[in-house]
Amino acid sequence: MQEPDQVASSLRRTDGCTHVLLITTGSVASIKAPLIVGELLKYQDVRVEVISTKASTAFFDVQAIRDLGSRVWKDEDEWSGTYKIGDPILHIELRRWADIVLIAPCSANTLSKIAHGSCDNLATSVLRALAPSTPTYVFPAMNTLMYEHPLTAEHLRVVREVIGYNVVGPIGKTLACGDVGLGAMTEWRDVVKIVVDKYNLSLKE
Ligand SMILES: Cc1cc2nc3c(=O)[nH]c(=O)nc-3n(C[C@H](O)[C@H](O)[C@H](O)COP(=O)(O)O)c2cc1C
Repeated sequence: MQEPDQVASSLRRTDGCTHVLLITTGSVASIKAPLIVGELLKYQDVRVEVISTKASTAFFDVQAIRDLGSRVWKDEDEWSGTYKIGDPILHIELRRWADIVLIAPCSANTLSKIAHGSCDNLATSVLRALAPSTPTYVFPAMNTLMYEHPLTAEHLRVVREVIGYNVVGPIGKTLACGDVGLGAMTEWRDVVKIVVDKYNLSLKE
């Protein structure tokens, strides 16, 4: 765990770079997180930071993301010990840092929390503190019946129409649980493509 001032200095923005904040939540599709980070880092002048909910980290190896040169922030990083007035606050530093936020995958639970304005973990605190001008993309990923639950449609409506996020997917396929239908996260390459196209990124030479 880093001291607050170390956190702030390590989250300085770099001029000319695109700062991508990837939020992963407790869906099986979190296994794609290292692929998304690795692919984004193939492009010039891209920086990636990852925030993962507690449930999300069950699905991928955090070290794999560190090995790619990125970091995974967890809830406990927000609480480094005794807070003193003037200390940087992690969720504020992360939202200042981000040019674009991808919630990929977005679980039914986190979707519900966003729609209700809850901010009881690092991921949702960042989102609640985010400037409305920061482009934010939600990639729902859940079991078909979770997706078809009437509350999901209502949460997606709020997220789109009230908060102004972009909702992409889900797609239909055979899900990890064996059910066939809508609910899978958009293909990870298409998640990356949104950032590449938006910022006109070029591959490193
Ligand atoms: C193996 C496993 C797979 C899961 N897959 C999903 C999923 O794809 N989508 C989803 O919304 N929830 C899924 N869940 C349930 C979430 O992990 C659970 O609702 C959790 O509280 C989400 O927390 P978070 O939103 O803070 O990440 C899964 C749970 C388990 C045990």
